[in-house]
Amino acid sequence: MDKVLVVGASSELASEVLPILVESGCRVGIHYSSNKKAVEQYEDKKNVKLIQNTITSEADCKSILEEYVEWADGINGIVIFIGNISCTCHWSEITSEQLVNEYLSNAVYPFMLAKYAYHFMKGTNAGRILFISTASVKRGGGSTTIGYGMAKAALECAVKRLARDSALDGILVNAIAPGFFDTKFNRERKKLSEEDVAQRIAMIPLKRGGNKKEIASCVMYMLSEGAGFITGQVITVDGGDFL
Ligand SMILES: NC(=O)c1ccc[n+]([C@@H]2O[C@H](COP(=O)([O-])OP(=O)(O)OC[C@H]3O[C@@H](n4cnc5c(N)ncnc54)[C@H](OP(=O)(O)O)[C@@H]3O)[C@@H](O)[C@H]2O)c1
Repeated sequence: MDKVLVVGASSELASEVLPILVESGCRVGIHYSSNKKAVEQYEDKKNVKLIQNTITSEADCKSILEEYVEWADGINGIVIFIGNISCTCHWSEITSEQLVNEYLSNAVYPFMLAKYAYHFMKGTNAGRILFISTASVKRGGGSTTIGYGMAKAALECAVKRLARDSALDGILVNAIAPGFFDTKFNRERKKLSEEDVAQRIAMIPLKRGGNKKEIASCVMYMLSEGAGFITGQVITVDGGDFL
């Protein structure tokens, strides 16, 4: 892969992926929304294009792809880290509007990004589309994150369909489903306390949260030549959490 766009590159889970991609010399698109601080260290690198865009529509997804492809003169890999939890009420209280919001952030926009990536990859007979789901889909999401869980389940459905239909174009479509990683996503968005985190870790067979380097290794493998026979899969990285 020599032209890789990382959408949501400012996410904590992406932080160990970026140095590897940048050092590899490939043309790296680094997208962020509000957290420029997470990515500004790469701004002066010749092989990096920083792309700011707070996605609120399909047009934003298209624009991110067009900006990257124009700069890189094509695209052969996209890793989609964007995700959000904006509602943490119990599922018995959730409104249809809150559900739709979670669906937009976690299924619709990632799907639209993949759709436009596909248009640019088609015809080159090569491409990797990699989504980031969540291992919690396996047990119906969480009681207070049902919209997020339902949306990620929808994304996993898209993995299967896109993989089937893109295979003859040489495009492989997969997802990584992380388990528990001690990030601000969990502490702030899911509003987990110290005690919640300790309890959560106690439930994991390996008795620890994941390390961001372990996500980076998996991403790099899924982009590598060695993963050339894998498509339509959701690769779980969760220390056995949802066995
Ligand atoms: N942390 C975990 O334990 C865990 C477990 C399972 C799955 N995941 C998944 O892993 C991915 C990354 O999670 P993380 O923990 O690293 O979370 P994070 O640090 O909060 O990252 C979220 C990313 O999404 C971007 N984003 C959110 N809304 C956006 C919008 N409307 N437009 C553009 N960008 C937007 C953020 O951009 P800015 O920061 O620049 O605003 C950031 O790059 C997510 O898809 C999440 O569902 C995480």
